Amino acid sequence: MARVLVIGVGQIGSELGPALVEQGHEVVLADRLPPEETAGWDVLQKGLGADGVRKRWHRLDVSDTPALTGLLRELRPDVTYHLAALLSATGEKNPDLCWRINVDTTREVISTLSSFNAAVAPRLVVPSSIAAFGPLPGEEIPAVTPDLYPMMPTSMYGITKVAGELLGAYAAAKQNVDFRGLRFPGLLNTAPPGGGSSDFANMMYFAAAAGKHEVEVFCRPDTRIPFMYMPDAVKAIIEVAMAPAARLSRRTYNVAAMSPSAADIAAALRARVGRFDVRYVPDFRQAILDSWPRALEDSPARADWDWKPTWDLESMTDDLLAQLGWNKPA
Ligand SMILES: NC(=O)c1ccc[n+]([C@@H]2O[C@H](COP(=O)([O-])OP(=O)(O)OC[C@H]3O[C@@H](n4cnc5c(N)ncnc54)[C@H](O)[C@@H]3O)[C@@H](O)[C@H]2O)c1
Repeated sequence: MARVLVIGVGQIGSELGPALVEQGHEVVLADRLPPEETAGWDVLQKGLGADGVRKRWHRLDVSDTPALTGLLRELRPDVTYHLAALLSATGEKNPDLCWRINVDTTREVISTLSSFNAAVAPRLVVPSSIAAFGPLPGEEIPAVTPDLYPMMPTSMYGITKVAGELLGAYAAAKQNVDFRGLRFPGLLNTAPPGGGSSDFANMMYFAAAAGKHEVEVFCRPDTRIPFMYMPDAVKAIIEVAMAPAARLSRRTYNVAAMSPSAADIAAALRARVGRFDVRYVPDFRQAILDSWPRALEDSPARADWDWKPTWDLESMTDDLLAQLGWNKPA
């Protein structure tokens, strides 16, 4: 059993928190919002019950440095999952705050964990993203992008993700903090997503499950980026956190599961719910999506800590529609 702190309990944290409790860990959940106001409240309640959530909850604004470092000193967690962040679309609207929340607070978490001078280095997990990649000048990004490819992100969010990866590698090498990270694809579950450019897919699932026959999305039909179903994302983040340090050949890994286009997702939904018309109206997020890999090459994660996804587009679509309460016609 480990003492675990999850900071930022949104789309991922609302499923990760209950999964860690289920595994027998002592878990504290921290967010700037009260639990009832977070996007994942329904998911959290399902996993832990309302009282189970509230008794583990700690109100924390990570930009309040004394409060952040104070909580870390009080808990001295064995494993910290720092998930509080501004995502790509929100970050593009407020780039300074994006840097402050995504990078400065990661550096503060690292220096506080480092100051413990612990005999066993405390673990810190900070997810990165496909947004850490971007095309080299005058080139297209490789359709299947490997772990080690020059990182030239075009969004402030992507820049903060590269900075976080580098701070983490430095912390692992020099600061006695056992950092691990993952470059996640767009993630799907029943929790409303938190302002990413991959949200068009979540919007399609929510609309189809609600029985709507039409939806408008902000991308082109041929937009193709990697996606992952949340049970696989939770499995991956726990596996990388728990992997023996001796097996790690790097500190941040690509993880992949599926790479459907927006039109493929619409077709998978249409095959189940019947008429489902999608109006494609690209906005500023299209340029962000176009700068991301079409697919990720994840053989290092597979070799180093036995990563293997369970869900593909078809199985995810069946399960997610059911989880969202869609009633299949008899
Ligand atoms: N969801 C995805 O598709 C996806 C894909 C790739 C990477 N990631 C990464 O995973 C991590 C978690 O993402 P998510 O989708 O769960 O995000 P989310 O937006 O759903 O949740 C983030 C949570 O952090 C909280 N938060 C924001 N600012 C805070 C602050 N100042 N103090 C304390 N809490 C604050 C929010 O209230 C929210 O509950 C992020 O680092 C994100 O970049 C997510």
